[in-house]
Amino acid sequence: MASDRPTFPQTARREESRAGHDGDLVDPIATQPHFHRTESRIAVAGHPIHAMLVTFPIALTMCTLGADGFYWWTGDAFWARAALWASGMAFLFGVAAGLAGTVELLLVPGIRARAASWTHFVLAVMLLSVLGANWGYRLTTGYEHAVLPWGVLLSAFAAGFTGVTGWHGGKLVFDYQLGTSTTGRG
Ligand code: HEM
Repeated sequence: MASDRPTFPQTARREESRAGHDGDLVDPIATQPHFHRTESRIAVAGHPIHAMLVTFPIALTMCTLGADGFYWWTGDAFWARAALWASGMAFLFGVAAGLAGTVELLLVPGIRARAASWTHFVLAVMLLSVLGANWGYRLTTGYEHAVLPWGVLLSAFAAGFTGVTGWHGGKLVFDYQLGTSTTGRG
């Protein structure tokens, strides 16, 4: 008996894709039993700790670039010292966020199964090495001396790289629904 429910092409495609099918093609990874188990395990009341922590390295990396810019503009040592602290905190919070993300990646089967999660991991580890270099260079060279030109250049590079990594992390959540509740309960 034909169903009287209207079938929208998008709905049919989404249902096929959830079953691991795309037309005649079958994605063997998507047919694995745990492919749709993507719910965060490193979370407080269902809210992923990684998503809460990443705001700190993102904001502090942008603050480092801003402080470098103000030092270049004003010559006031306060801004060079602010950039030293901001770059250090960006790195340390980035490592903390990365640890939470890595445990999530290893523990949650639906996250582990997707190539995009591993792309994000590789991008993030490269970003952490840039953040570490930015802080380490200031610590070893002297915070004022380090700003021009290499400190500000490193900060600009780190800001762009953070944008790419953060955008990609957003894709994991908004395109693949990684870390989100699969039951609809909070
Ligand atoms: C080092 C290893 C990292 C791993 C394995 C990792 C893994 C993940 C995973 C699995 C998600 C999906 C949400 C969740 O389950 O929590 C995610 C989201 C995200 N990640 Fe990472 N991540 C890492 C580092 C970073 C770093 C350093 C940044 C900073 C730019 C970052 C930025 C983001 C953002 C912005 C999101 C989206 C959060 C949201 O909108 O809710 N990640 N990451």
